[in-house]
Amino acid sequence: MSGAAPEVLVLGAGAIGLYLGGRLAASGVQVHFVGRPRVVEALRHRGLSCVGLDGQIKRLEPTKLRLSTEVPPGIDPALCLLTVKGPHTEAAAGQLAAALPAGNVVLSMQNGVDNLARLQRGAPRLAALAGMVPFNVVQISECEVRQTTDGHLAAQQHPLTQAWKPRFEEAGLSLRLYEDMRAVQWAKLILNLNNPVNALSGLPLREQLLNRGFRQVLADLQGEALRVIDAAGLPLARVTPLPTAWIPRLLRLPTPLFRLLASAMLRIRPDARSSMYDDRQAGRPTEIHDLCGAVVRLAQHHGQSAPLNQSMLRLIEQTAQQSFLTAEQLQAALHESGSPG
Ligand SMILES: NC(=O)c1ccc[n+]([C@@H]2O[C@H](COP(=O)([O-])OP(=O)(O)OC[C@H]3O[C@@H](n4cnc5c(N)ncnc54)[C@H](OP(=O)(O)O)[C@@H]3O)[C@@H](O)[C@H]2O)c1
Repeated sequence: MSGAAPEVLVLGAGAIGLYLGGRLAASGVQVHFVGRPRVVEALRHRGLSCVGLDGQIKRLEPTKLRLSTEVPPGIDPALCLLTVKGPHTEAAAGQLAAALPAGNVVLSMQNGVDNLARLQRGAPRLAALAGMVPFNVVQISECEVRQTTDGHLAAQQHPLTQAWKPRFEEAGLSLRLYEDMRAVQWAKLILNLNNPVNALSGLPLREQLLNRGFRQVLADLQGEALRVIDAAGLPLARVTPLPTAWIPRLLRLPTPLFRLLASAMLRIRPDARSSMYDDRQAGRPTEIHDLCGAVVRLAQHHGQSAPLNQSMLRLIEQTAQQSFLTAEQLQAALHESGSPG
């Protein structure tokens, strides 16, 4: 391990942190990972393997990894990637605020639309920027992560992200810069509304998306969210080949037609699941308040309601973690408790 100052600090050595940090490290960037003790311990013994969508493995031996369980005080990275789940943002922001010099840039690669504000509140002297990961990564073990779907990373247009763009691309991480990341985050949130559907279905993503009933549930949640976003006057960026607003229509098509027209959406490894499924199975807090919860809060803020997203939030919180629902059961449960009257 080289003694040079780290260029990138990754806070949250999980699926996304290990994949992004691992690919950057494999391309020669000095990366320091902060993770939970069990993960750090395993990485110290077994190293890290990052498997790309093409199946290529980037392998980092234990001696090549810089690891700790806390943010090292006085560390001064050029860039910090925040890759913890939403419920852990506040604590992570506190750790960063205590350890990093004022003005350091922290790029949140998290889902949802509220993490940037949490980060700014918890670490007001740091420069918080929004990023977005469009693809799915599964953590097969503490030491192995695998990209299972396609897409380009997104980040706020800023001199630092501009400077880092070529380094990301050298690491095989295509990065697009946007002036309005809020529009990107809301568009991603629309796609992420599949996370609770997947978690409650108990099925791998591909199999769940090939079930028309589950697609209809997703289309209903997305249609409601799109109406709320439209009423709030928020713009939506285009993060998929199809404009975001057309996706519910695509989802409602009969399966043979959907299979034909949505081939890009179905380019998923057959065993991949949403990480909300994993979180429920492990009894960890989920990001449901950052997804359906954000739609409900936006609706309330604009004098609207979002009964289906409200019901989905409640279902995720109240359904026993080992229980799964068929598409018909899910549809009935959402519409039963989600009817506005
Ligand atoms: N996975 C995906 O495919 C994907 C795709 C796009 C976007 N995202 C988003 O990216 C973010 C990260 O997701 P993920 O799937 O990578 O989550 P994850 O696998 O749970 O990884 C986060 C890791 O950070 C650890 N952690 C939390 N707080 C910490 C702290 N203060 N210090 C050290 N370690 C800490 C967590 O430990 P514990 O589990 O013990 O809390 C976990 O090991 C989420 O917002 C997610 O929605 C994920």
